[in-house]
Amino acid sequence: MVEKFSSISSRKLPKAMSVLSRNRMVAVSDFGDFQKMAKRNIMLSMLGYSAQKQFRDARERMVSNVLSNLHKLVTADPHSPLNFRDVYITELFGLSLTQTLGEDVSSVYVEEFGREISKDEIFHVLVHDMLMSAIEADWRDFFPYLSWIPNKSFETALFTAEARRNAVMRALIKKQKERIERGEARTCYMDFLLEHNSTPLTADDYQMLLFLWESILASADTVLVNTEWIMYEIAKNPDKQERLLEEIREVCGCRTVTEEDLPRLPYLNAVFHETLRFHSPVPVLPPRLVHRDTTLAGYDVPAGTELMINVYGCHMDKRAWDSPEEWAPERFLGGEGFEVADRYKTLAFGAGKRICAGSLQAMNVVSVAAARFDLEPRGRV
Ligand code: HEM
Repeated sequence: MVEKFSSISSRKLPKAMSVLSRNRMVAVSDFGDFQKMAKRNIMLSMLGYSAQKQFRDARERMVSNVLSNLHKLVTADPHSPLNFRDVYITELFGLSLTQTLGEDVSSVYVEEFGREISKDEIFHVLVHDMLMSAIEADWRDFFPYLSWIPNKSFETALFTAEARRNAVMRALIKKQKERIERGEARTCYMDFLLEHNSTPLTADDYQMLLFLWESILASADTVLVNTEWIMYEIAKNPDKQERLLEEIREVCGCRTVTEEDLPRLPYLNAVFHETLRFHSPVPVLPPRLVHRDTTLAGYDVPAGTELMINVYGCHMDKRAWDSPEEWAPERFLGGEGFEVADRYKTLAFGAGKRICAGSLQAMNVVSVAAARFDLEPRGRV
């Protein structure tokens, strides 16, 4: 099995992602010593069990800020619709800046732009424009033998987005470099990479820029999507919402739900996993490349094959799930034959050696946020 896993643990990237990542990031580099080292670093500094404890206050601040900002908006204009996403995404981005750079930056001076840019614009350049560029299809990906033909409009847009990202990342790194030179160390990914990296890095290395950008990008979108779908499903299913509220009231009474409460909230946990099954933020896994001949489920798969894993299809498979078209958190609760590991039988975080590095952070942020958004407006009054 281990043999098979490692033979399908490399990625096959479309052109846009290769340009943006130079194939030198945790999520997209080929499986091997570099990838293992890079994944170990991000786990040790940010995403692993011990590292997550160090950022508990930052996550708590994030959820509290979302709630108080929503409250302010409702109080200022009770009859207007609220855009949950706008409020949530700003705070989530702040959390990812804090974990990555040690600071929730509100603005930064970018030399190449000749001006100070706001946090919203930083988000736009580092996350929004990058996601749009990464999904941009280059027809040459589908016809590799025609890759010698230029695709000017695609390349111009991609290289412009890349240059803007580099300019903003350099400005952010410069600001933190100055902080570090003043002797102000902080608990964050950048400080960790400077101190501990087994392949020595400086703040000016392009590799540093890629690692830090990856960390900012990785947490921005999926967690938001998962939280939104939970809010949607519990609003649509009042009986399940009531069950969730009851569980939270029973365990936490009138106090605020915290991460320490999560192990005692099985229904909340089930809501989290069922929403990942039903509305997977990554419905098709990033492509894998078979780099040596192997056998999978009885099929001979030759080296060089590209594998696309259809997560949505697996989660809707009637052979694996009862009534898969129903949103039913109960399927992840105890019962006959239930095992804790069943919660990971969804493929929402992928599988094997390239499984998501941020699943613990996702669970922490999303579960606490969902519990508090749901309970606080009514439960606290
Ligand atoms: C609900 C939230 C999330 C979902 C559904 C999700 C999903 C995924 C999936 C499907 C993969 C590919 C796995 C594979 O190919 O087998 C992945 C990889 C990865 N994710 Fe996540 N992710 C989430 C949150 C996060 C967060 C918060 C972070 C970090 C801040 C993160 C960091 C990563 C990294 C570094 C990888 C690459 C792992 C590797 O290639 O070895 N993810 N994620």
